[in-house]
Amino acid sequence: PNLYGRDRRNSLGINLNDPTTLDRLMAELDSAMGRQRQASPIVSGEAREGNGRVVRDPSNRQRVVGTVVEAGQEAIAEALAEAASVAPGWDATSALGRAECLEHAADLFEERQVELMALCIREGGRSIPDSLSEVREAVDACRYYAAEARRHFAMPKRLPGPTGERNELALHGRGVFVCISPWNFPLAIFTGQVAAALAAGNAVIAKPAEQTPLIAGLVIQWLHEAGVPSRVLHLLPGEGPAVGQALVADPRVSGVAFTGSTETAHAINRILAEREGPMVPLIAETGGQNAMIVDSSALPEQVVVDVMSSAFNSAGQRCSALRVLFLQEEVAEPILEMLMGAMEELRMGDPGRIETDIGPLIDEEAKARLEAHCQRMDREARLLYRLSLPEDAQESCYFAPRIYELESLAQLTYEVFGPILHVIRYSSQQLNEVIDAINRTGYGLTLGIHSRVDETVRYIQNRAQVGNVYVNRNMIGAVVGVQPFGGEGLSGTGPKAGGPHYLLRFATERSTSINT
Ligand code: SER
Repeated sequence: PNLYGRDRRNSLGINLNDPTTLDRLMAELDSAMGRQRQASPIVSGEAREGNGRVVRDPSNRQRVVGTVVEAGQEAIAEALAEAASVAPGWDATSALGRAECLEHAADLFEERQVELMALCIREGGRSIPDSLSEVREAVDACRYYAAEARRHFAMPKRLPGPTGERNELALHGRGVFVCISPWNFPLAIFTGQVAAALAAGNAVIAKPAEQTPLIAGLVIQWLHEAGVPSRVLHLLPGEGPAVGQALVADPRVSGVAFTGSTETAHAINRILAEREGPMVPLIAETGGQNAMIVDSSALPEQVVVDVMSSAFNSAGQRCSALRVLFLQEEVAEPILEMLMGAMEELRMGDPGRIETDIGPLIDEEAKARLEAHCQRMDREARLLYRLSLPEDAQESCYFAPRIYELESLAQLTYEVFGPILHVIRYSSQQLNEVIDAINRTGYGLTLGIHSRVDETVRYIQNRAQVGNVYVNRNMIGAVVGVQPFGGEGLSGTGPKAGGPHYLLRFATERSTSINT
């Protein structure tokens, strides 16, 4: 038994290195990837009809993945009214019952993982290993928050008091939680937010990213099938300004979980501050300007492997991804040379093929933003490497990964969300300047350190104002319950997703003192 009183393990996934298993998976995936899906607002279990918008595959814009009906004013109003009316009842159910629903959902997700992976690939442009990691993270989130609900919510905490007095502190759901999730983890983050809010005893209205509503529709249906009452959990697909804003502005909403841009988090904060009604929390996970510091004691081969996965995995579309690599000048040349060799080996293409390392960006808007950044970099920085695009790339959202060398971090004033790595050389006397520069960005999400000198590692670790530090390894792929994930400053409010304090922020505390 572990800390949570049960033998909780992370989801094992599928062994992609076993040829027989892989063959079977690919056959199942091929058929699942060919199926089209529909998503629509689901209010109290009922799918709302309307005019559908076509959802297209980012790796091939000719390919239709399904259609989505977006939520109108009526669906928004009904979801709010229903959620508000059933929230107290859901909170009054036992935490054990809520935990069982989530555990049942985790089992369903594992049994049907191929369906989920197929949508991560075709709707989200995620590679096969990334899609598998998404399923595992979603499953882990359901089981972990179930265990956390048992630990914190099942019984009030007894507190000391004089004879004749019993003191207790209990946790309760806050009411209606709105969960607004991003397209870059269309399954894992969507499920994680919803599972946490439900586990803590809240009714939930989920607003998925407009790019990835189909996978969200499937998750909501399966959560209902697993036992979450249909009136407790609603889905409202649509655009942020139309749906998200209307939800956040409503005084019946008692909390918001948001993952996305820092700019949108600020906008949500403003709406919450200005609206009538109760003061409620915003749990935001936002952007980063993530760096890795490599000193002259680092193992170059290990550095290269970790830089490649940190910067280019998921086409750099992770909030944790490496953006700025600081190389101590003594080791810069050999590491850069090896890095160029590794870039040659990167295979870009259809994410539905097992040999693909890098798939497309999510959409044309993301591509235009990166192109504008590269135009600036072409003038102001030194291009070290640019990968060639696959032949059929014009019809889709592929973007050639690049490496630029910069003079200083001051040249990067915004987050670059894609497969672009920036390199800066530093001398051993400049280590403090490097740490100061990283802190000055105001972001504080992930930091990589490659050094075999313990004092250096500790020195950097103690001074860098970041949420997740990774030493002598890559800096992506935080595992639920193992590396609680989330930043500080412009990178988010905390508490960390997948960590022991997360559920508490979705809850309110009630203290009772009884004269016995
Ligand atoms: N949790 C994700 C990761 O660690 C965030 O992007 O990669």
